[in-house]
Amino acid sequence: MCGIVGYIGKRDAAPILLDGLKRLEYRGYDSAGIATLSKKKFHIKKDKGKIADIDRKLDFARMPGNVGVGHTRWATHGAPSKINAHPHADCHGKLVVVHNGIIENYAKLKKFLKQKGYRFISNTDTEVIPNLISYFMRRGKNLEKSVRSAVEKLKGSFALAIISADEPDTLIAVRKESPLIVGVGKGEMFLASDIPAVLKHTNRIIVLENGEMAIIKPSGAVIKKTKSGGVVRKRSTKVTWTAEMAEKGGFAHFTLKEIHQQPEVIKNTLRVPRAELEKLAKFLLGAERVYLVACGTSYHAALVGKYALAKLANLSVEAVISSEFQESCRANGKTAVLGISQSGETADTLKALRIAKESGARTACLTNVVESSITRESDVVCYTHAGPEVSVVATKTFVAQVTYLLLLSVYLAERRGMSKSKICKLIARLNEVPDAARAVLARVEPHIRKLAKKYSNSQHIYLIGRGIGYPIVLEAALKLKEITYIHSEGMPAGELKHGTLALIERDTPVIAVVPPGASQVRMVGNIEEVKARGATVIAIADESDDVKEHVDEFIPVPSTEELFSPLTYIIPAQLLAYYMTVERGQDPDRPRSLAKSVTVE
Ligand code: F6R
Repeated sequence: MCGIVGYIGKRDAAPILLDGLKRLEYRGYDSAGIATLSKKKFHIKKDKGKIADIDRKLDFARMPGNVGVGHTRWATHGAPSKINAHPHADCHGKLVVVHNGIIENYAKLKKFLKQKGYRFISNTDTEVIPNLISYFMRRGKNLEKSVRSAVEKLKGSFALAIISADEPDTLIAVRKESPLIVGVGKGEMFLASDIPAVLKHTNRIIVLENGEMAIIKPSGAVIKKTKSGGVVRKRSTKVTWTAEMAEKGGFAHFTLKEIHQQPEVIKNTLRVPRAELEKLAKFLLGAERVYLVACGTSYHAALVGKYALAKLANLSVEAVISSEFQESCRANGKTAVLGISQSGETADTLKALRIAKESGARTACLTNVVESSITRESDVVCYTHAGPEVSVVATKTFVAQVTYLLLLSVYLAERRGMSKSKICKLIARLNEVPDAARAVLARVEPHIRKLAKKYSNSQHIYLIGRGIGYPIVLEAALKLKEITYIHSEGMPAGELKHGTLALIERDTPVIAVVPPGASQVRMVGNIEEVKARGATVIAIADESDDVKEHVDEFIPVPSTEELFSPLTYIIPAQLLAYYMTVERGQDPDRPRSLAKSVTVE
């Protein structure tokens, strides 16, 4: 979704803002712009397109001023265009605003302001904001009070950054739902939608909460309740992420870097303290009904959790897509709802947790971002420690979520009486997974590159799996469609004959994911079924099994416990999606139309 950056201090603002915007590119955008303020005069440069192209054309860095705001826009109201790009100024040229989110009542406000003589030039909802603030300033209120009065009138969810020619030593930030963090420097302050944008300058951050605003000067920030103006005393938090963690580190793309980080991420996640697992165990075991709610990749991790909790800990849970929770689930005081979200900002998941809470349920979350919004909707807060994920597509955070849920399942199995020897065996096998993941990366990459060349022009790809193979193929299909733009469909292999088999014809690529276990024999049956229709079958399977004889291409994965296979089996699929995308000349880090944090419903 849209990204916001802000700076106030002694240095030139524009290069800092430009760097910040580049670091927010992963959130997804269609236009970008920067406004700086110098000698009470605004300088605004903006356009649609990629930041690098706009910069080449407009040369952001030459903009003067020690205070400014920047924005990457992901169009909601008004097509992507220069005029609709942010920053937006009021019609008197005294105020500049950048905005993330949606103003639901903008049409009514625009009508009111037009009647008062305000002129509008864009099709955005945003443009009402600087004009509304200006309306209050022209009635004698100072900037802070005018912002508060304007925000009082705005309906919707948003984050704002505002600068004014009349108060050039102040940068104001407002948060209602959409995330914003303030970065604390020495004699300078930063503002951003997300932590990686400020890490180069500081690791001390203040997370603005819903209904809060920050009045930011070079020397520090005062946080207030937007509605009452009451001061909120807040200390900055030190984050452990470093700037290098958010760099490409020698890889061609963040996607590839993050795929390669997975063995380390699995290893880190296996260190989750028992006390944290106990917290979550109590939360789950105390409930009559348990839901795991999540979207996209996090939902696929939730599905793995559902299988593992049932098989290992004999605990029945439902995995639900967050946006369907309201329609398909009922919660009450005896319900536990665990929200899983990498960003901790996904609107659908936040809403599901809110609805659950209102129905009396207890809530917990598993997220990768410290102090993200989901932590405030949850009675129990747990973190994956995957580090910043910059690529829009989730890879390493998927394995972190899965590792966490597997570890939790083993812990619950122990709690529910599984024998010590079985638990020790499971833990030992889990501890082998980081090396197995490393081995996959070391062995399969050259083969996958060849396959990517061969299949990058496919029109459709079908992926089949059974049992724990099913969430793996769903996740693999999502990776393929997100970045290659090839239609990819993952399904339980047993479902093929109920319809999709009609689409399999000569040379249709079918990827069969065959983890070890009892379902292997039936998977071989399904492979033969598609081969009989002319499909070309690529198998990702245990290195020691005989699937090889039945398929056209064989990608071997080291033996592991069946339930742990998502951690290693997903890697060849991620690599295939990555190399096919590169082969097609597309950018795997920034897929079209997608955003990293989906903060709208
Ligand atoms: C897929 C992907 C998305 C996210 C989904 C949920 O590669 O990145 O499907 O998984 O938008 O996001 P979080 O986990 O932040 O709630």
